[in-house]
Amino acid sequence: MKIILLGAPGAGKGTQAQFLTKAFDIPQISTGDMLRAAIKAGTELGKLAKSFMDAGKLVTDEIIIGLVKERITEDDCKNGFLLDGFPRTIAQADALKEAGVAIDAVIEIDVPDSEIVSRMSGRRAHLASGRTYHVVYNPPKVEGKDDITGEELVQRDDDKEEVVLDRLRVYHEQTAPLIGYYTAEAENNSAVKYIRIDGTQPIDTVQTTILSALK
Ligand code: AP5
Ligand code: ZN
Repeated sequence: MKIILLGAPGAGKGTQAQFLTKAFDIPQISTGDMLRAAIKAGTELGKLAKSFMDAGKLVTDEIIIGLVKERITEDDCKNGFLLDGFPRTIAQADALKEAGVAIDAVIEIDVPDSEIVSRMSGRRAHLASGRTYHVVYNPPKVEGKDDITGEELVQRDDDKEEVVLDRLRVYHEQTAPLIGYYTAEAENNSAVKYIRIDGTQPIDTVQTTILSALK
């Protein structure tokens, strides 16, 4: 199963990815998590990506496409994968198509901008695993600690309100056109499912709605 998760920053892509990867036994490929890991490791890629991410801008297509193309050839991707945060531009979607990747489903998680800012201010993340929580909507078992490792949760650098507003602007300009791109794809190719989900519902309702739509 090859799935694309589409949605604005804070729509709940990472949250739903945690369930979906377990349900279908496929790895989560989050370009955002990969870039944050590179920043933490202090690699050249990390140094380059940090200024873009802190400003809420997209990292260049060339870098991201190279990163994903390499990742999807790894062994654990043989039975499929879940793309979280990629593609994010028409150029990235075209590159995926040109690489011969046959997508089974595109899931759009739809949340209005007005709800995004409050979600981001309450988000806490375990950067090493990419697991995210919310102080109100999805609290960890122990305040401030990751459920699995017990390690400290942090706020992401790009979750400051002014950066969130920039990320939303970038989403509408550069990523939202993918909604039309993939709806058209699903209309022309019966092997591709396009699923739109109301992401303002509670986390477990979003999860069950996605699972039943995929069956
Ligand atoms: P990335 O890490 O991909 O960030 P994003 O797309 O902005 O999305 P987020 O991770 O912020 O949100 P999410 O949808 O995963 O939401 P979550 O589940 O955490 O990218 C970061 C940066 O990296 C980009 O700005 C860019 O610079 C760069 N980058 C990455 N990919 C790139 C690419 N392909 N090309 C170029 N640049 C790229 O949920 C959010 C919060 O809401 C959490 O607190 C959660 O608990 C809560 N929540 C989730 N669902 C619900 C619900 N149903 N009800 C209530 N609360 C909920
Ligand atoms: Zn995410």
